[in-house]
Amino acid sequence: MIPTLPTTRHELGLLYRARPAMAGLLLAGAAAQRRPGTGSPVRRVPGIGWVTADPVVARTVLRDHRSFTILGEGGVGNLWAQILGDWVLDLFDGAGHHDLRSRTRELFTETVSRDLVSAAWDDRVAAAADELRSGGTLDVAHLSRVLVGRMVISLLGIPRPDGYGGSWPDDEGALRIFETGERLASVALGTAGSTILTPAQVATAQGIVAELNAGIPDGWRNAPPDTLLGRCRELGLGLTETSGLASLLMVAGTETAASAMGRITALLVDTGEQHRMLAALRGCAGAAVPVPASGPAGGDDRTPRLLNPGEADPVENVVREGLRVTSPASVIGRGVAADVEVGGARLRAGERIMLLVWSANAAAGPFRADRPYLRESRQLWFGAGRHLCLGAALARAEIGALLRMLWEEDRPLRIVRRRAARGVLIPAWSELIVSRT
Ligand code: HEM
Repeated sequence: MIPTLPTTRHELGLLYRARPAMAGLLLAGAAAQRRPGTGSPVRRVPGIGWVTADPVVARTVLRDHRSFTILGEGGVGNLWAQILGDWVLDLFDGAGHHDLRSRTRELFTETVSRDLVSAAWDDRVAAAADELRSGGTLDVAHLSRVLVGRMVISLLGIPRPDGYGGSWPDDEGALRIFETGERLASVALGTAGSTILTPAQVATAQGIVAELNAGIPDGWRNAPPDTLLGRCRELGLGLTETSGLASLLMVAGTETAASAMGRITALLVDTGEQHRMLAALRGCAGAAVPVPASGPAGGDDRTPRLLNPGEADPVENVVREGLRVTSPASVIGRGVAADVEVGGARLRAGERIMLLVWSANAAAGPFRADRPYLRESRQLWFGAGRHLCLGAALARAEIGALLRMLWEEDRPLRIVRRRAARGVLIPAWSELIVSRT
C-alpha cells in the first residue's frame, strides 16, 4: 500500500526548504502517529533527546508543570534568560508568570483582538483588496509580513525612526520591523540540539531587543489606555514587565502569524477547499432567514440563513483547521525538571523533550474547510497549560481578516507563483502570488 501523505506536497516542500532535518523528524512523527500501537509514543532520538508526536502525551507534558519546565535546557525561557537577564525566569515560569498571565488575561480577548486588527490594518487591507478587485495580482506572503509588521508597530508603539522619510508605518517601515523580529527569532535557529547561546548570539539578540523596545518607556508612561502599552500600565504591569512582555510578543507573534496567513491561503487553493468555503459563505450570506438546524452546512443553496447555534462561521472554521494542518510553531521544547514516566518512557531530570506538534496535529487527517473541532487536538497549535499562546485570539483575528479580504468576491483564487523560504525556523512562503481566476 502506498502510504498517503499527511498534507499537501506543497506544504511538505515548504517544510523541507525550511529545515530538511526537521522536516524528516516531523514526517516520521506523523507516520508513527498514524500507525498506533507500534511502540512507545515517546522515543529517544540521538542528538535531540526525547520526542513525541502523540497529542495526548504532548498535552500531558505541557500541563505537568512539576516535571517539565520551559526554563531548563530545551525550553525557550532558557534562551530568554540569557538574553534579557535572570529576572525573566520568574516572569516566565514562577510566581511572576502566574501574576503576569492573570493580569494580561484581558489583553487579547476576541473583541479587543478584532479592534486591534481593524485599527492597525484596515487601510492596508482595503488597498490590497482594490488590487485584487481590479484584476491585479497580490503577493500574499509579502502582504502578510507587512501586516504583521504593522501590528507590531501598533502594539509596541514603535515611533517613526529619526530621519525616516515617508508616512509611518509605510510598507518599507513595516517590513523592516518584521525583519527585526525575524532576526531575533533566528537566534534560536541553532538551538535544536542545545539552548545555550554563544556570547556573540547573546550580544546580537540584546542589540535587537534594545532597538525594538526603544519606544516602550514613553508608550508605557503616556500611551492612551486603548493601546496595548497603555493597557499594560493600567493593568499594573511595571516598565520591566511590559518590556519583557513586548519582546515575547514580538518573537512569539510575528513569524508564526505571517507563516499561517500565507500557508492557509495556499492550502485553500491547493486542496480545492476554497470552493467548499465559498459555498459555505454563500450559505450564510445575508444571514437574514434562519433555516432548520438540520439544514445543509453549505452546498449551493443560496437561501440566506443564520448560523445555527454552535455552528462555526465558515472562515473561523477554516482558520482553526488551517492552524491545525500548518501548526507554524511545529515543535515545542521542554526541559525535564524531575524524573517522570510519560507514555511508557522513563525521563530523567536534566533531559529534554521535543513535542512534535505539527506531526500530532497533521496526523488527524487532511485539510478540510468544514472539518469540525477535533477534541483530541483541541488547540495544540497554540500549546497547552500555563504557557498556552497569549495571542491566540489576535492570531485568529489576523488570519480571518486576511482570508475574508482574499475571498470577499465569491470567486476562487489561483496561485500564479510561489517560493518557499529556505533555512528558517518557522516554515513560510517567502513569495505567494495570487490572482482571481
Ligand atoms: C499563528 C500564530 C501563532 C502560533 C501558532 C502561536 C503558537 C504559540 C505556542 C505553541 C506557544 C506556547 C509555547 C510553549 O509552550 O513553549 C505560544 C506562546 C505565546 N504566544 Fe503565540 N502563537 C501565535 C501567535 C501569537 C501572537 C500573534 C502573539 C501576540 C502578539 C503571541 C504571543 C504569545 C506569547 C506571549 C506566548 C508565551 C505565553 C507564556 O509563556 O505564558 N502568539 N504561542
